[in-house]
Amino acid sequence: MHCVRTVTDNLYWVGANDHRLTLFENIHPIPRGVSYNAYLLLDEKSVLFDTVDWSACRQLLENMEYLLAGKPLDYLVINHMEPDHGASIEEILLRWPKVKVISTEKSFMLMRQFGFHVDGHELVEVKEGDTYSFGAHNVTFVGAPMVHWPEAMVTFDTTNGVLFSADAFGSFIALDGKLFADEVDFDRDWIDEARRYLTNIVGKYGPHIQLLLKKAGGILDQIKFICPLHGPVWRKDLMYFIDKYDKWSRYEPEEKGVLIAYASMYGNTEAAAQALAAKLCEKGVTNVAVYDVSNTHVSYLISEAFKYSHIVLASVTYNLGIYPVMHNFLMDMKALNLQNRTFALIENGSWACKSGDLMQKFIDEELKNMTVLNERLSLASSLSESKGAELDALADALTESVRA
Ligand code: FEO
Repeated sequence: MHCVRTVTDNLYWVGANDHRLTLFENIHPIPRGVSYNAYLLLDEKSVLFDTVDWSACRQLLENMEYLLAGKPLDYLVINHMEPDHGASIEEILLRWPKVKVISTEKSFMLMRQFGFHVDGHELVEVKEGDTYSFGAHNVTFVGAPMVHWPEAMVTFDTTNGVLFSADAFGSFIALDGKLFADEVDFDRDWIDEARRYLTNIVGKYGPHIQLLLKKAGGILDQIKFICPLHGPVWRKDLMYFIDKYDKWSRYEPEEKGVLIAYASMYGNTEAAAQALAAKLCEKGVTNVAVYDVSNTHVSYLISEAFKYSHIVLASVTYNLGIYPVMHNFLMDMKALNLQNRTFALIENGSWACKSGDLMQKFIDEELKNMTVLNERLSLASSLSESKGAELDALADALTESVRA
């Protein structure tokens, strides 16, 4: 049975939702699922923009067969060939062998590497600024390298103002019928998962996103729809989401507030984190989020680190090092290029407390444009009443810095 939605005149969403996949890229949990978006334009020529993950291929085919109603598929535009979108290319070529495939040189190279068997079909290689007409609709192809793979491009339909934005402006969460961002309460229910998607999947490539945003900036008034490969289509309030992408890709905090991430073996470092959170709220800094790194997947911690201006790391010393899960969080911050944050540290050690110095060294030497507050809270096994002044000093320093 087909399951399609109309985006605008003659343009249809023909993708699929996935609630079965547990880990996106086999690493990031997606408890609310994900969508693989593909779009079919029915002009004088029929054009499919991208395909879907192999697991969703059947739904894509049923959707296309319904809309094409026996007519041939003329073109397949591949903006991004990563297998969560490109894995069904070969099946499309088997069903419609005369289809012309439009993509970039690198994309065709990667399709061959992945064994998509595109050779023997008509391949149209396009580059930055090339245009194409499908009848009434004219499109321009725009390079988007490293958003998220090197071969990526976006396609802008100058006739109806649709931007097929590939991975840019995507989000986790299955659509479950609601195609448009204005059909959900995005700011309440989706923004955290959109941020988690962007920061973990493409976070490392902020400068490349900035480059794409600059290109989009030149045609902002012409963009009427943003059609990403995951998550909802944008047709209203486009600047809300463009501004978010701008902040995330410049590594600027979204909010003034404090993320407290703690690593605790027996609850004592956790107690210090909670005591600090209470002190901050007491002083009026209530935008505080507390996470246990041991039972929070690091993709959520990364998303929160991109959100907040201040980050408190509270870690026990473990094998004379940083607690492994906290170390992993730091490594991920480095890998994803997080910058421009203010840190504060809480360390704990029962006989050789090392975690504070080691976290400080990592932040100073491995991360970019970070500040670490001088006020550090050091625990010997547990937070004793005698540490009240140190805790106060840390809360005061954080409060002052958040309000600066
Ligand atoms: Fe959803 Fe980079 O693929």
